[in-house]
Amino acid sequence: VVRARANELIARMTPEEKAGQITQYFDFLNEPEEAKRVESEMAAARAGSLLFVHDAKELRRLQQIAVETTRLKIPLLFGYDVIHGLRTIMPVPIAMAASWDPKVAEQGQAVAAREARAVGIHWTFAPNVDIARDPRWGRMIEGAGEDPYLGSVMAAAQVRGFQGAGIGTPGTVVAGPKHFAGYGASIGGRDYDEVNLSDSELWNVYLPPFKAAVEAGAGNIMSAYMGLNGVPATGNRWLLTNVLRETWGFKGFIVTDAGSAHDLKTHEFAASLEDAAVRALGAGVDMEMAPPFGVSAFKTLPQSMAEGRVSVEAVDNAVRRVLEVKIRMGLFEQPYVDLEEAQRVLNDPGHRVVARVAAERAAVLLSNEGSALPLDAKMLKSIAVIGPLADSARDTVGPWVFDQDDSETVTVLSGIKAKVGSGVRVDYSPGVTMPARLHKSIFDSSPHKEIPRVQVDDDAEIRRSVEIARAADVAVVVVGESQLMIGEQASRSSLDLPGRQQELLDAVIATGKPVVVLLMSARPLDLKGSKPAALMNIWYPGTQGGAAVANLLFGEVSPGGKLPFTWPRNIGQIPMPYAHLKTHQPKTAGERYWNEPSTPLYSFGHGLSYSTFSFSNLKIDQVRVIVGEPISVSVDVSNTGSRQADEVAQLYIHQRHGTAARPVRELKGFERVTLAPGQTRTVHFKLTAQDLSYWAASTRSFVQDATVFDVYVGGSSTASLAGNFEVTAQR
Ligand code: IFM
Repeated sequence: VVRARANELIARMTPEEKAGQITQYFDFLNEPEEAKRVESEMAAARAGSLLFVHDAKELRRLQQIAVETTRLKIPLLFGYDVIHGLRTIMPVPIAMAASWDPKVAEQGQAVAAREARAVGIHWTFAPNVDIARDPRWGRMIEGAGEDPYLGSVMAAAQVRGFQGAGIGTPGTVVAGPKHFAGYGASIGGRDYDEVNLSDSELWNVYLPPFKAAVEAGAGNIMSAYMGLNGVPATGNRWLLTNVLRETWGFKGFIVTDAGSAHDLKTHEFAASLEDAAVRALGAGVDMEMAPPFGVSAFKTLPQSMAEGRVSVEAVDNAVRRVLEVKIRMGLFEQPYVDLEEAQRVLNDPGHRVVARVAAERAAVLLSNEGSALPLDAKMLKSIAVIGPLADSARDTVGPWVFDQDDSETVTVLSGIKAKVGSGVRVDYSPGVTMPARLHKSIFDSSPHKEIPRVQVDDDAEIRRSVEIARAADVAVVVVGESQLMIGEQASRSSLDLPGRQQELLDAVIATGKPVVVLLMSARPLDLKGSKPAALMNIWYPGTQGGAAVANLLFGEVSPGGKLPFTWPRNIGQIPMPYAHLKTHQPKTAGERYWNEPSTPLYSFGHGLSYSTFSFSNLKIDQVRVIVGEPISVSVDVSNTGSRQADEVAQLYIHQRHGTAARPVRELKGFERVTLAPGQTRTVHFKLTAQDLSYWAASTRSFVQDATVFDVYVGGSSTASLAGNFEVTAQR
């Protein structure tokens, strides 16, 4: 029925309407000339989709033009980067991954979807499922970190959250996993730069989260900007058609990244704009996200159809996929949203609870020397809250937000004040000025632009910070990167604290007072060996961030998040994924750098708690299995401390020999459990044949070897509890 309905429309469409239907325009409302141009395309039925509109009334007005004034009355599909919330801002996606709790990611994105759909947005350009192993790359904030297994679990969870029971479920949006594929591996961590990946890295590391997202039913995929091994992803037929559609059976529609069809020309891959459109479509693209303010390549398609450079059938196939989504979403029957209902959904207090719990579960306690945390509110008389990010609502929610209400965002300062009440004195100093970026970002002309920064006299303010720290029982210092220092076009050649934050931190630590450092960051930062009493990564914790942080500081909840990436000692060590291969003289040659230990500062999967845990009784149900058979593993996790708290049981495997050399450890299972003091729980894992298989360069195929596997289970990638089993070819 859906197909027949789409075909009926296609039969009535002109070539211009077809090309328009598969073109998406940026609607920059704050740029009146551009908005006028886009609106006239739309009114002439030469636009199938718009992005960057999020106001319910405006969305309705635009939809009315499409539905009530165009010839075929085809509704628009509205897309937006609803990456971690619309009005209620969740912690950033990498924080969700740090929760190691797929329910947190799923519920967070379900809330985001509900709010987006309520205002009239139908489709989100999320989740970002790019594996990121180079923290210089700013977009690691949007993904799930360095590991393909964690990345796959989080990718599927987010797709489920956005799409509910599938496209067309009320209160959901179409998910658009991105950027297909390899974007996170740009050389030097420079955004948009070229990517050169071996097939082995592609299949074993970078592609699995996309496959998981496709298996979870994602309705859309976005192609990447950059070239993969010299072939731009948007013109890469092997990626978009052979892998995505033919090998994985993807049935949805493929959109380009902004202007990346047009960019086939910029990449010096296509000869002309016409050629770019023909080659993007030929590779498998269905819709062009036109370049902001620029010329759409797909506008040339009618001419190319007329001249036989592209077949009508190829264009129709793309149009059909786009129309089918609109039909399945019910847009023809119900193109408009109820404006009052939209307000009700945006203000739903339940959404704020989801955001707070997510922020609590995402925080990673990196160190807690001498158990400085949790703070005891009853024993404290005064707290010094210091740092340029301590009271910045805009930074607390992080990048990719555009409809948040800053006045309702709970900053760390306001969260602490609300928690301690009037009995505890809270002194505040921003400490230093948050510096500006050296280069402007594209977002400076978008709804999520940079905010004016509070300018302080750094020398005077550092002195004042030291004074208030000296006069307080404890100092809480909130430092890190501001929201536009991370994200798209926010790669960095340094992991240092920007501006004079390090100086501030050193001065406050030098007072000798207990100092708790809260890092607002989505990449590992280099604190130059500073030794605060406690260090917690709170990410960009979202609308309820400060409330969550206060609950964590005062022990109402115990931190239980774990690092989704390896935290190097300094920038010279990157990349250093935990899942590396054993190579020449792994032990006898000692360290790989003569000036630096080979270990990271904090390992993948690391994260402390206010309690302590032990792992015991590792059981592997068989000593031997045949290739293809699954195997079960269980372990007892005990809370050996005196508080209820969470631990993440993590299972890693290591293949001893085989068709190819495999990493020293690979995550293949995890479960976050909450345990009362003294409580023990048995956690069960299943290793399937797929978990034990991998893509081998020598056979150019997936293989499962007859070999021996070591199994490690514990609370991080350095877990020591070990066992093993054998895989044989026959019984
Ligand atoms: O969705 C994004 C993409 O991730 C990067 N370029 C712009 C798109 C639309 O905002």
